[in-house]
Amino acid sequence: MKTLIDVFREVLLERGIKSVGALSKRFRKSRDRLQEIALEVFNGKGAVFHIPEKTFIAWDLEGNRVEGSHYAYAPLCMAGKFEMVLGPEELHSKLPEWPYFIIDLYHWDRHSQREKGRLCLQVNLSYSVLRRYFTGRELAVTWINDEFRRMFNGPLNRITPYDGPTAEFLVEKGITEVVLLDPWADEVLSGKDFDTKAFIIGGIVDTSGTKRKTTPKIAEELEKAGIKVRRRKIVLKGDVSGVPNRINRILGIILKMIVEEKDMDEAVYEMQEPRHARWRLRKELPKHAIRYKVDGRPYRVVERELFDYYSSWLKIRPEDFMKVLRELDLIALDGRRIHHLNKISNVRIINGKAYRIILLKKAAMLCYNC
Ligand SMILES: C[S@@+](CC[C@H](N)C(=O)[O-])C[C@H]1O[C@@H](n2cnc3c(N)ncnc32)[C@H](O)[C@@H]1O
Repeated sequence: MKTLIDVFREVLLERGIKSVGALSKRFRKSRDRLQEIALEVFNGKGAVFHIPEKTFIAWDLEGNRVEGSHYAYAPLCMAGKFEMVLGPEELHSKLPEWPYFIIDLYHWDRHSQREKGRLCLQVNLSYSVLRRYFTGRELAVTWINDEFRRMFNGPLNRITPYDGPTAEFLVEKGITEVVLLDPWADEVLSGKDFDTKAFIIGGIVDTSGTKRKTTPKIAEELEKAGIKVRRRKIVLKGDVSGVPNRINRILGIILKMIVEEKDMDEAVYEMQEPRHARWRLRKELPKHAIRYKVDGRPYRVVERELFDYYSSWLKIRPEDFMKVLRELDLIALDGRRIHHLNKISNVRIINGKAYRIILLKKAAMLCYNC
């Protein structure tokens, strides 16, 4: 899917423009200068002008610094002074129809004040995520009320706020079918879903665990109003555990899949924080545990090399691995040592579980050998 910067670049190239500068120092420190310039043009703040003398600095269309340019971004008030080569209206007319990314605040009243604050922050962060790819206007927030307006610190005028129900918003936009991101769904989100005109993410922050299974309720509401809902989950190697569940991160995953064409596991990895990775590791490590009884004392052991495997798809550092081992009361040993322990032990079933039994004398020999 084309991004705002792709469109901006295309239009400039059509006009034979290969670099753009600025008449002020404004964009010199920003990371995505061209995207920032394109956004300013989109928001009607300025335009690209042809100027008689080269600017002091400029950037090529990949964002690299070049010698000055005869084309520069400047505020719209310069329109009388220089010839405009790309202004807001024209940029608007060239933009494709991007889908809406809707944060549905249907469950707003079920949140504590603290959760409401977090929800507002996540909406704001979602705007920042979207404006890296598109314009930010594609972010719609439905069911908003006065309390949300008061608490929200972000730029309401640059997103699409809607006071009424999501279904009403969709009807107004002529949208009859949506994709609802739902961790409880049976089906996994895939490329087949990217044709939708609206993705819906539940505006839910669940720090207390009291809003379990609230996302499917959003689907019920929409279906009652005649909207067809495709419920889809995001998984990491087949399981929702380890998928970051904050709204802005879910949005980031979808955008990485749609725009950057990353596969789901890669997109999840890039949006993961170590704490999400630890959730999953807690589920994974016990699957590898080998039970030993050394002189009657039970131990559960895993291979130390598992760190290399799991760190290839979970964002864990050695300290995360150690933390999870401690929490689960597991011991990590080199594969070589485990192989040795297995050689000197016998398997016995105790209370339905398999244990490898080691006699103390043999264990002492093992330590001596190691
Ligand atoms: C913090 S989650 C709330 C989950 C809620 N407690 C529940 O049990 O339905 C916020 C939103 O992120 C989205 N989300 C979180 N994890 C997801 C996943 N693994 N797959 C799809 N969507 C997810 C959903 O839209 C969800 O409503």
